[in-house]
This record gives sequence, C-alpha cells and structure tokens, in this order.
Amino acid sequence: MNKPQQRVGLLTGGGDCPGLNAVIRAVTQCLIRQCNAEVIGIQDGFAGLMESRTVPLSWERVDDLLALGGTVLGTTNRLNPLDTPDGVARAMHNAHALGLDALVAIGGDGTLTIAHALSQQGMQVVGVPKTIDNDIEGCERSFGFDTAVATVTDALERVQTTGQSHGRIMILETMGRHAGWIALEAGIAGAADIILLPEIDHDMAALASVCREREARHDFTLICMGEGAKAVDGGITYDTPAPGDSGKPRLGGAAMALRDRLQPLVQSEIRATVLGHVQRGGSPTPFDRVLATRYGVHAANLVAQGEFGQLVTLRDGKLASIGLDRVASQTRRIQANDPLLLTARQLGVHFGEAQPPTTPGCSC
Ligand code: F6P
Repeated sequence: MNKPQQRVGLLTGGGDCPGLNAVIRAVTQCLIRQCNAEVIGIQDGFAGLMESRTVPLSWERVDDLLALGGTVLGTTNRLNPLDTPDGVARAMHNAHALGLDALVAIGGDGTLTIAHALSQQGMQVVGVPKTIDNDIEGCERSFGFDTAVATVTDALERVQTTGQSHGRIMILETMGRHAGWIALEAGIAGAADIILLPEIDHDMAALASVCREREARHDFTLICMGEGAKAVDGGITYDTPAPGDSGKPRLGGAAMALRDRLQPLVQSEIRATVLGHVQRGGSPTPFDRVLATRYGVHAANLVAQGEFGQLVTLRDGKLASIGLDRVASQTRRIQANDPLLLTARQLGVHFGEAQPPTTPGCSC
C-alpha cells in the first residue's frame, strides 16, 4: 500500500441526526478510494479535537454505516472552543500535532460557526450541513430533515385517527427551534388543518374561531405546531429556562401552553403530544441516505481539490458550495412568499392569523 497522501480529520458536532453515519461512510470511502488519504475520526465533535481523542477510520470500519442512526463518532454541544479559554488555540495546536492536512466538520449552525472561526485561523475546513431543522443558511435541504418529516407525518396520521374517533382537537408539537420547516412540511404531508410556525405568531381568538367552526360541522381538528411557535400576546415556551448543553435555553411544551389557553374557548376536549427526540433518532430514509452520500462525496471532492472554507449545499436540487463566512451564525427561516407556505394557504390550511393574507385564486 502506498504511503497516504494526506491525513484528513472528520468530526460530527451539535445534536445528532439521521444520516450522520452515511456521511462518515461516504467521506471516508471516497477519500480513501480517490486520494489514498488517511482518515482520522475525531470523537465527540470539537470537544474531541480540544482533547485529542481520535479513532482511525478504515474502509471496513465505515462500510456498514449507511443505514445506521446516530453517529459512531459521538457528538456533543458542550466544550465549544469559541467559549473556552484558549479553546481555538488548543484546537489548532492539536490539529497540527495530529498532522491533519484538512478537517471535514459535519454539523449545524453552531458547528459551522466554529468551523468558520478555525478556518479563519488557517485550518483547511470543509463543512457538511446537518440538522433535522433544515435551517442552515444557503442550503435548501440538510440531511436528516426528510427522516424527521417522515416521523412527524406518521405521528400526525396516528393522532388523526384517535382525534377523529373522539371528536377532539389534537395538537402535535414538532422540533425545529426558531424555524418551522418540519412543522410546515409534515403538517402538509399529514393533512393538518392548522399549522403553527415560529415565523407567524398566532392569534388565540382566530384559532378558537376556526376550531369552533369545525365543531359546528362535527369535525375534529388536527394542529401541527413547531416548538418555537408563539401567540401574538405570548412568548416562546421553554422546557427549562436553564441553558442546555448548547448554552441555549431548551424549547419545548408549546403544545401544552396552547392547549391550556385554547381549552376555555372551545367545546371539544384538547389533547397535546410532544414528539421530542423520536424525530432525531433511528435510521435515515432512503432520500436522506442518498443526500448524505452525495454531500459526503462532494465534501471529499472539495478536500481533494483543495477548496476549503466551504460548506457543501444543495441549490435548485444540485450540489454546490457556499463560503462558511456566509453561513456562520445564521438561521434560514420560512419567508412569507415561500412556495410551500403559499401552497398550504391555497388549500385552506390555517396558520393562526387574525387576518390571513389573501391568496391568489386557483388558475384552473
Ligand atoms: O437543532 C436540532 C434540535 O433537535 C432542535 O430541533 C431541538 O430544539 C434541539 O435540537 C434539542 O436539543 P437537545 O438534544 O439538546 O435536547
């Protein structure tokens, strides 16, 4: 075997997500096959880089990973080098001591912000967009999102049959932090009557009125709600006011808060379900396996071509890349003219507004 031409580090950071292992497999096998590279797995994200905890990644080690949920490298939101005294210097020093020529960082906004900071210090970094929230700037689809949407859609269908049988108002809360992509796409796929998004504050009187109209028709009501959604006269609901691992407060419980405010205004009983981490676990869908593989191969190609400081992305369905500087510390949220939002509006899905904007008539 020839001497490896370069040594590439690979890490997964932030919350886990279906498809991480598929990216690890694709990056590793592509770099070994195309560049005869040596691939070093860094454990537990940037914490592992600051503590020099690594594991070798061979072709055989990653070969079975395509459909496996979670990440075999481990991940954490703790020990952010940007918040740790000498953290960046330690990460740079250890990367040098490990002989890393390049680093592939698979993660969401937090991980990509750290990757950008290290790349400004001279580290040769390529990023891969991971998050079920689908909220990474400049990237129309992060891997893991499709799997989360499939899980939420399945849950909505289950909640629907029981809600319909009892004539109840059923609220299902999804993850997504301050972006409503999971709630919007799953809400459409799961035929929700009302979708509540962090991007559109909802009005309690308007919601109650929609539910009462449905009650008058002996109809049950299915509400799909992003965890970051809030009432016009209310605030975001936190699971705990204390910051979680990421240093940010943990969202959760918006469905129960809505139930408690809506119940006195309607006849039907209301039940609230919070899906939580079920959305992040398990095996990636075939779409996510393919997307993760495409991203992994593209990231390996950028390393081979010496194109660093970039995030691999999907633009108009095609692989592309964007500078990490344009992505760091940004959140991609749903805009008022988003095509999917307009599609749902045209179908009569309610978004909890007191005065929904008028939608263009159907052209048929
Ligand atoms: O960003 C991904 C995400 O799953 C969010 O949708 C959710 O609010 C958060 O992570 C949960 O994080 P943790 O695993 O720290 O509870």
